[in-house]
Amino acid sequence: MAADFEPDQTTNPKAPASAAGFPEPTHPPHHLEGPSVHVQDVLRHDPIRPPETLLEPSDYVPPARPIEASRYYSPEFHQQEVEKMWSRVWQYAGWAYDVPNPGDIIVYRNAGQSVIVVRQRDGSLKAFRNSCLHRGRELCGADTSQAQLRCPYHAFTWSLDGTSKWIPAAWDFPQIDRANFNLPEVRVDQWNGFIFINLDDDAPSLATYLGKMTKQWEDWDFNKRFRAVTVVKEINCNWKTALDAFIETLHVYATHPEAAPLTPDTDSQYDVYSDEPHFSRFHSIVGSPSPNIDPKPNQQDVLDAYTSVYLPETFGTPEGELREGENARAALARLARDVYKDRLGLDVTDMPVTELLDGTEYMVFPHFLVWPSLANPLSYRFRPGATPDSCTWETFIFMPFQGERPPSGPVIHLQPGQKLSDIAELGYVGPILQQDADNLEFMQNGMKASASGLLQISRYQESRIRHYHDVLESYLSR
Ligand code: FES
Ligand SMILES: [Fe+2]
Repeated sequence: MAADFEPDQTTNPKAPASAAGFPEPTHPPHHLEGPSVHVQDVLRHDPIRPPETLLEPSDYVPPARPIEASRYYSPEFHQQEVEKMWSRVWQYAGWAYDVPNPGDIIVYRNAGQSVIVVRQRDGSLKAFRNSCLHRGRELCGADTSQAQLRCPYHAFTWSLDGTSKWIPAAWDFPQIDRANFNLPEVRVDQWNGFIFINLDDDAPSLATYLGKMTKQWEDWDFNKRFRAVTVVKEINCNWKTALDAFIETLHVYATHPEAAPLTPDTDSQYDVYSDEPHFSRFHSIVGSPSPNIDPKPNQQDVLDAYTSVYLPETFGTPEGELREGENARAALARLARDVYKDRLGLDVTDMPVTELLDGTEYMVFPHFLVWPSLANPLSYRFRPGATPDSCTWETFIFMPFQGERPPSGPVIHLQPGQKLSDIAELGYVGPILQQDADNLEFMQNGMKASASGLLQISRYQESRIRHYHDVLESYLSR
């Protein structure tokens, strides 16, 4: 069953009057004070047409309301999530290219459950409860590759397809009927190289669950990416506390001050849909400063703010200077084309400016975030810990490649006290993510200290937070 979801007629203040007419400016009507830049205007002035879906903002904003802080720390709420939400949703369980060969296995643990995803001899995938039918040991303790599924404890054995293969001292288990002793399957499906599992036999298909997100992704093919690195961090906050840090750009000015001169952080476009419970997105442009900055940086300052972090090869060089008639966005596009060609060996001559520079981010409910543009090849997953005050936050970097697919990169587990900024494989992203991480424990503590017990959520910029809470509520109320 799909989650119940109540549509609302509230209008998105930044939706253009018409999505047609590229490259004409749209000057969208709005009812909020202050937007200095309209994403649609910028995209429609770019010299190479963006993916069509980016020219189609949502016209929906979920009704404004505060959110109870207790949803982030109450053990009872945590337990409700485990019982009623995690047991029913499609969950990103792993990357298909990490298990290319028969017998390759992903172990996916979440919310007290454990599942193995097993590459079959015919190339398909099957998933099983990671629990031995003898006395319940996990069949696999970690990602592995093996010719059969043999429990390490007493060697009960199943074929890769889950059929019972061997029972030690079978004479002593007269109660076991081998014909009914196959491993219980878990639903598994994949999209764009991402493997999802669902513990609910009655849930809608993955395609139904993702809805029109798959159509929106027609121009983005992650089968042409490889997983360059995964970084795993345990953190003392609720999984939603961590998630919330990545689905709005309102925090850029305060949390990432070095980025504020290069992006109009409070003017990002947020798309949620009245009829799409399981995804939302934002689009954040670069090339003009945060409206919070006074005095306003000039265009060379904007350019320098970007190149110093993202394109250091060009910072302070003659190429990094604005040319006659160029604005910062045009200069950044020029520089990014050269740098990405040098760094990646990719010809990005025809790639839309927005894909070279901007941040587009999708959220797949409940816990997977993925950025399709080349500028930010990031993905995140947030899994709850044993208590509402802990979670596991994973960052994945999916890079494009040319020619033969490179092998997947390492999985790095941060040690206590180690910072994301210490991880060389994360490059310039590491220090930025560490800035995000530095808020999270304080968020978790502060929410508990709140006098009102309420989080104030902005109507538009934090609408994705409200949206997923509404969807979460629809699962909990069933
Ligand atoms: S628990 Fe698996 S073989 Fe005994
Ligand atoms: Fe951030």
